[in-house]
Amino acid sequence: MRIAVIGAGTIGLSWTKLFAEHGHDVRVSDPRPDLAEVLREFDPARVRAAADVAEAVRDADVVQENGPENLAFKKDLFAALVEQAPSHALLLSSSSAIPSSEFAPEDGSRVLIGHPFNPPHVVPLVEVVPGERTSEDSIRRAVEFYRSLGRVPVVERKEVPGFVGNRLQAALQREAVSLVQQGVVTPDELDTVMVNSLGLRWAAVGPFLGSHLGGGPGGYRHLTEHIGSSMHAMRVGEPDTSPEATEKVVQAVERAYGDKSYAELARERDRKQIAILSVTGEQK
Ligand SMILES: NC(=O)c1ccc[n+]([C@@H]2O[C@H](COP(=O)([O-])OP(=O)(O)OC[C@H]3O[C@@H](n4cnc5c(N)ncnc54)[C@H](O)[C@@H]3O)[C@@H](O)[C@H]2O)c1
Repeated sequence: MRIAVIGAGTIGLSWTKLFAEHGHDVRVSDPRPDLAEVLREFDPARVRAAADVAEAVRDADVVQENGPENLAFKKDLFAALVEQAPSHALLLSSSSAIPSSEFAPEDGSRVLIGHPFNPPHVVPLVEVVPGERTSEDSIRRAVEFYRSLGRVPVVERKEVPGFVGNRLQAALQREAVSLVQQGVVTPDELDTVMVNSLGLRWAAVGPFLGSHLGGGPGGYRHLTEHIGSSMHAMRVGEPDTSPEATEKVVQAVERAYGDKSYAELARERDRKQIAILSVTGEQK
C-alpha cells in the first residue's frame, strides 16, 4: 500500500517505522527543516519525503495524520485531505484527545481516529474512534488495516475527549502528581511502585479481570462487597497545577532521570516492552 504520514514528530516517525517494516511505501510530509536528515534511518526505497501534504497524499491508500494537537490545524488539514487524497483513501488521525467529529469536514465519511500509544511501532493498541460522519466501511477498513500491521485495534462506541486510554492515564497521572506534591514519594519511587505491581499485573490482565481475580473464588462480586467500600471512601488527590507547583514536579522528575539521555531511556523502555510482548503476545 501507499501510506502518507503527515507530521513526522515522535508519533509520525514511529508509525513510519512500522509501515515500512510491513513493506508499505511511505510518503512523509512535515515542514521541519531536518526532515531529510531524520528520514535517513529508513530504507530510501520505501520511505521518501514529500515536498508538501498534497504531494504526500496524491496516490495514498491510507493517510495517518500526526501533526500538532490543535483543532484549527486538524480542521484545515482534513478539509484539504478530503480534496487532495484519492477518493478511496482512509483518512486517520492520531489525535490523543480531539474527537474527529470536531474537525471532519461535511463529507468526512473516511475520517476517523486511529489513536496509538507511544511508540506505535512497539505498543499494540490502536483506539479506532469513528465520528458522527464516519461510514461503517471506513471503520471496517481501519480495523483491517491496523490488524494487518500486527496492532490490536479496539473500536470505541462513543466519542469522549481523550478516548479511553488517555482518560485512564490522566486519572492515574493526577493521583501520581498529587502523591509527589504531598511528599509521600518521589517520582522515581512512585514509578518503582507502579512497575512492580499494577504495571506488571496490567500487562497480563486489565483492571476488571484483575479485580475479578482479586476477589478470589468469589470474584468481582466478593471484591466489591469486601473492600469496595474502603476503596470508595478513599479520597483521591487533586494536584496543584499552578506554574510554580508544576515546575517543582518537573524538577523532581529531572532530578530522578536527568542523568540519562532520552535515547538511552527510550531504548530501555522499548527493550522491556518488547520482552513483555514476547510473552503476552497480542492482548485481545
Ligand atoms: N506523543 C505521544 O505520546 C502521542 C501518543 C499518541 C498520539 N499522539 C498524537 O499524535 C499527534 C502528534 O504528536 P507528537 O507527539 O508526535 O508531536 P510532535 O510535536 O513530536 O510532532 C508534530 C509534528 O507535526 C509537524 N507539523 C507541524 N505543522 C505541520 C504541517 N502543516 N504539516 C505536517 N506536519 C506538521 C511538526 O513539525 C512536528 O514534527 C498529536 O495529535 C498527538 O496528540 C501523541
